[in-house]
Amino acid sequence: MVVVSGADEVSGFISPTPSYDRIKELREFDETKAGVKGLVDNGVDKVPRIFVHPPEALHDLPSHLGSTHRRRQTHLTIPVIDLLEATTSRRKEVVDKIQQASETWGFFQVVNHGIPQSVFEELLEGVRRFYEQDTEIKKQYYTRDLMGKVFYTSNFDLYSSPAANWRDTLYCIMGPQPLDPQELPLVCREILMEYSKQASKLGIALFELLSEALGLNPKHLIDMGCAEGHTLLGHYYPACPQPELTLGTTKHSDNDFLTVLLQDQIGGLQVFHQNQWIDVSPTPGALIINIGDLLQVISNDRFKSIEHRVVAHSIGPRLSVACFFTTGVQSSTRVYGPIKELCSKDNPPVYRETTVKEYTVYFREKGLDGTSALSHFKL
Ligand code: OGA
Ligand code: NI
Repeated sequence: MVVVSGADEVSGFISPTPSYDRIKELREFDETKAGVKGLVDNGVDKVPRIFVHPPEALHDLPSHLGSTHRRRQTHLTIPVIDLLEATTSRRKEVVDKIQQASETWGFFQVVNHGIPQSVFEELLEGVRRFYEQDTEIKKQYYTRDLMGKVFYTSNFDLYSSPAANWRDTLYCIMGPQPLDPQELPLVCREILMEYSKQASKLGIALFELLSEALGLNPKHLIDMGCAEGHTLLGHYYPACPQPELTLGTTKHSDNDFLTVLLQDQIGGLQVFHQNQWIDVSPTPGALIINIGDLLQVISNDRFKSIEHRVVAHSIGPRLSVACFFTTGVQSSTRVYGPIKELCSKDNPPVYRETTVKEYTVYFREKGLDGTSALSHFKL
């Protein structure tokens, strides 16, 4: 029997809770195949200890969650960029704003992106229907094997991370190998296909702007294959009885080129900027865009893949859908390193070359442990 102390032994954290058989409790949770939602459906009124995070991950939570940490007053918000202007004579201004945002925040919101609000509403409803359908049907999609194309799981890193997150996730690998729509759950099939098409179009427009923001030919990032594949992640963050003890998502940076994120009106996403956590307040109709680790690699650190997290809430469920531009584990041949045009004698490459598959496998095996996967690829 493996007896560990409290939240985890990985971080060396000494917990005030008594020793317990963590692996056994993880397995019991995993075997329910009902995810965090299943716990809440069963009326859990305390956060099970496998979900309790070490104090250093919780000390700076928002004060309404009982944190004693005094946050500096801040009025900082991530930049908002109007994409309609990119189709006018003001494109250069848009490119400059995207450059600024990608170099400093690694995050921005876009409005006038061409995707109707009704699509967002239907998408969030569709993901909700997936989670709230008959548990027996939903369980058929549950797996720990991340090599499939459509599956749902709770905490992809359940057994490797120091503490579990209060969140379940539906994964839909939409490309580069085309997905047969029949593989998608019936209750959200149509809207996932529709959103995938629209997000992909938006992704192409963004990679053009990002290429220009790097001073490259507009097609450069697309020609490199950055928009070749994307995965939709439908997150479900159930209401949490003790949000001050756990997290919706541990701090992390994204393991892709670029993420397009839709969050609902509940909020909870925070971005680490200038040494503090900044709330990304829900903005109806806007999409959140962030630079992923792979774009940081190929831009040779010009664009930043910034840490973010989701705090748990006593209200819920909170729904969000992330579109990850990456070929994930499907592509293993194309090699990515810092773009030659962005390197010079004074600015030599800071990363070794890797494949998207190698990077993805490393990220997954490491899990969300609060550290960056990028440093492993530094020269
Ligand atoms: C992610 C992520 C944030 C959210 O999927 O990587 O950070 O709001 N999601 O769900
Ligand atoms: Ni993320």
